[in-house]
Amino acid sequence: MHLYTERRQQLAQQPATWLITGVAGFIGSNLLENLLSLGQNVVGLDNFSTGYQHNLDEVESRVDQEAWARFCFIRGDIREPADCHKACTGVDYVLHQAALGSVPRSIEDPQTTNANNIDGFLNMLVAARDAGVRRMVYAASSSTYGDHPDLPKVEEKIGNPLSPYAVTKLVNELYASVFARTYDFKTIGLRYFNIFGQRQDPDGAYAAVIPKWFASLLKDEPVYINGDGETSRDFCFIENCVQANIMAATAGDEAANNVYNVAFGERTTLNTLYELIQERVAVQCPQAAKAKPVYRDFRAGDVRHSLANIGKAGELIGYQPSFSVRDGLDKAARWYIDNIK
Ligand SMILES: NC(=O)c1ccc[n+]([C@@H]2O[C@H](COP(=O)([O-])OP(=O)(O)OC[C@H]3O[C@@H](n4cnc5c(N)ncnc54)[C@H](O)[C@@H]3O)[C@@H](O)[C@H]2O)c1
Repeated sequence: MHLYTERRQQLAQQPATWLITGVAGFIGSNLLENLLSLGQNVVGLDNFSTGYQHNLDEVESRVDQEAWARFCFIRGDIREPADCHKACTGVDYVLHQAALGSVPRSIEDPQTTNANNIDGFLNMLVAARDAGVRRMVYAASSSTYGDHPDLPKVEEKIGNPLSPYAVTKLVNELYASVFARTYDFKTIGLRYFNIFGQRQDPDGAYAAVIPKWFASLLKDEPVYINGDGETSRDFCFIENCVQANIMAATAGDEAANNVYNVAFGERTTLNTLYELIQERVAVQCPQAAKAKPVYRDFRAGDVRHSLANIGKAGELIGYQPSFSVRDGLDKAARWYIDNIK
């Protein structure tokens, strides 16, 4: 039996209490849906800066009433230590997702990104440590590889950060490792590589490429490709990311105080991604089949290629992604077609 199936069965038999920060966001709301469906008790913290009440409403509509009653939402801010302490009370595992994402946002406003991603992270570490939480799993980022040229990326070899956002994610890792050494507080960092799927926000200046392109093609609006389209990324479907979080939280202590790549382990260029999305949208909107992308300048702070070695996560936390990029895009397409008006 796959280790993940086994771990889910164990959790269902012995429910724990989880705190998800950033619960109203893309990744947070998917973690919520999965954990409630597994019979877990969940506390959620969010300030709705980039997350939405409608994400929580959608989860409510997808789980039964009994499951929804196991969820306690706190509207609060990780920049406020008191909110973090309140949220951590009585919690077994923290899945810390709250942060301001987006490289361009951090280039425009590094101070706000710093306050949310570094001050907020430190507040969460202190609160989780003081509350006696078993482990804090946190959203790290592939941006930490910065200008290191090697492909595929292995956890031990990082370069210089290329954006304020990347600095904040690197500092998170440094704080987590110091908390392990100094206070024996257990953490696991998950370096996410371009996660995509249902409920990822298609709107706004800082939207990620996959939701933005689904929305543009569905609305018959132009799709912009930054650069020549041969830039590549290791796109990873949300269900794989949920698996990594659950496996990391519940792995043996030998896996703790470490960082792991969370990706699918395959490289897709933007040109190929465009074709894959276009094919799926065209099933619903035939005019999309004729749409041509508009090429424009490369974007500041973006790395050219990204590809993860996921061997370490496989070996130490039992992470085995089960959704390929194409499978994930099929599922995402169904959601965007139903939800983009
Ligand atoms: N999506 C990706 O591909 C990706 C890649 C690498 C890392 N990450 C990291 O994963 C995490 C989740 O990302 P996401 O894609 O779900 O983004 P998201 O913007 O959808 O979710 C982030 C959530 O955190 C909340 N939040 C932000 N600042 C907060 C604060 N100060 N207090 C309380 N809540 C706050 C937002 O309101 C939002 O609901 C982030 O830490 C992000 O940096 C994501």
